[in-house]
Amino acid sequence: MIKKMISKNQLVINAKRMWPYIKPFWFRASLGVFLTIPVGGLDAAVAMFMKPFMDKVMVDKQPNFSAMIPFLIVGFTVLQGVLQYASNYLNTWVANKITIGVKRKLYAKLLCMDSSYFDNNNSGTILYRYSNDAETASNGLVENTKKFLSKTFSSIALAIVMLYNSWHLALIAIAVLGLFFYPIVFVRKKMKEIVKKSVVNLSSVMTIYNETFSGNKTIRSFTLEPEFSKRFHQATDTTFALAMKMVKTTNWLSPLMHIIMSVGIGLVIGCGSYLIVSGRITSGNFVAFIAALMMLYTPLKGVGNNFVAIQNSFLAIDRIFEILDLQPALKDAKDAKELAEIKKGIFFKNVHFEYVAGREILHDINLEIPVGSTVALVGNSGGGKSTVSALIPRLYDVTKGSVTIDDMPVTKLTQKSLRQQIAMVFQDNFLFSGTIKENILLGNPHATEKEMWAALKNACLEEFVKELPNGLDTEIGERGLLLSGGQKQRLAIARAFIKDAPIVILDEATSALDNKSERVVQEALDNLMKNRTVVVIAHRLSTIQNATKIAVINDGKIVEEGTHKALLAKGGAYSALYAMQFKEKENKKED
Ligand SMILES: Nc1ncnc2c1ncn2[C@@H]1O[C@H](COP(=O)(O)OP(=O)(O)OP(=O)(O)O)[C@@H](O)[C@H]1O
Ligand SMILES: [Mg+2]
Repeated sequence: MIKKMISKNQLVINAKRMWPYIKPFWFRASLGVFLTIPVGGLDAAVAMFMKPFMDKVMVDKQPNFSAMIPFLIVGFTVLQGVLQYASNYLNTWVANKITIGVKRKLYAKLLCMDSSYFDNNNSGTILYRYSNDAETASNGLVENTKKFLSKTFSSIALAIVMLYNSWHLALIAIAVLGLFFYPIVFVRKKMKEIVKKSVVNLSSVMTIYNETFSGNKTIRSFTLEPEFSKRFHQATDTTFALAMKMVKTTNWLSPLMHIIMSVGIGLVIGCGSYLIVSGRITSGNFVAFIAALMMLYTPLKGVGNNFVAIQNSFLAIDRIFEILDLQPALKDAKDAKELAEIKKGIFFKNVHFEYVAGREILHDINLEIPVGSTVALVGNSGGGKSTVSALIPRLYDVTKGSVTIDDMPVTKLTQKSLRQQIAMVFQDNFLFSGTIKENILLGNPHATEKEMWAALKNACLEEFVKELPNGLDTEIGERGLLLSGGQKQRLAIARAFIKDAPIVILDEATSALDNKSERVVQEALDNLMKNRTVVVIAHRLSTIQNATKIAVINDGKIVEEGTHKALLAKGGAYSALYAMQFKEKENKKED
């Protein structure tokens, strides 16, 4: 009982929360709804017309009256058509405006969610819940409310016609209608469970599409087609089962309503015949009544289906507000300060960190990155180097300890000002669909053409771009698919260059490259690192020998720290790593 009340209240609250999205268009929205009143009412006019037609034409045989009939019929229909067109137009306009409003708000929310949110939700869920739900919610709501209302209005008007012609029969017919409502309430509850499962299922279908696109080369090279086909079959089997379950739960509404209606009609005809025979109503009354009843029957047939659609949009609204109520784990502090300049450097103090509660990745990290220095992070794979670098722009918050810039913890700085001071080249750089120029400009939208070429030159990409027939305007494909691995990295470096930020973080930008391109990329990086505070992560130790300081991170701990020379002299973890790589090189030479 309490649960029922809560869910009802929730429905009302959510419907109320939709209001700000409808408010700017309230006039058109209500006009659209208002226009549906006469559309529905005109049905009643036609039914009402049956009485004089029956009594005056069929019984009294008045010729003038019958001459008017064709004009009246056409006139009414034209009027109804015009009103319907206008209301459809208005309602579609309003529905689209609302959808766009909700989508924009959802997208704004998506943009402010933090990295951990994206770690924990797959792309299908994001697509489904941020895009589809908005459409289901508002289109469904406006479109179906319109239908529902117009049918309700026509039902009311038809009920008045019925009452006017015979209140006895009308009472019978209306009492039968009362039987409609219980099944509707019952269906609502059942639907909710199924819809919840459908959302999960449809999200996973979308994820499969997405992975098929992004992972198409892997799928082909590992001949995973049968596996993906199987996954898709399984997911769509679930879709099918859920759709059938939905039909099973909801589609008996319409036939049931037919049956209830036929009971009503049967009763009315039985009692009506008695009323005519006993002279209480005219045959005109009776015909008009039956016409109205039949017309009432038609829209009510649809009420069952409409109800399901409206219910669906209410459930989508619930889900939308669930998302809008989400709070990103990382937010600017109320008294957050702007970071204008870095004077001393970046400091990790007793930093502990875990992505997932209970599984600590970084243990007590202490690291000083003085302004203007180059600090290199090396160590075993999975040791936590990328994680350390992600804490500087506050992509995640530390679990214990602090990361400070000068004397300010990064949590006390506005995220925007903090990130504006940092240019990152990631391990897996992401380029966006569009042209080379557009991708570089993402680093600094105000950059001039000259600055762009300078960035390309520093990133050792100038020659390549110059040789392209479309130069800067060359499309690079989604995620930069049309570029080579090294070109992608260098474009990402150019993007970091043009940002011209005082702090530069380079995460293994030279991995997975052959020696020659590594040298080119290395040159680009050396250019990028000049006169800045740099954190560089590299597997190849040859690239970081000139670093001010090297920190070796193994299994989440800093095990050694010092210059290349000092660490080699020490003969610890670093020198072992170095010896290993040196040996590999020697072996390669011998090959
Ligand atoms: N988003 C994440 N959610 C949960 N765990 C993560 C996440 N990213 C990384 N990890 C885990 O954190 C640990 C450290 O990862 P990290 O990427 O920092 O290592 P790394 O030193 O950069 O390794 P590599 O040299 O291979 O790039 C790994 O055990 C990894 O599984
Ligand atoms: Mg890494």
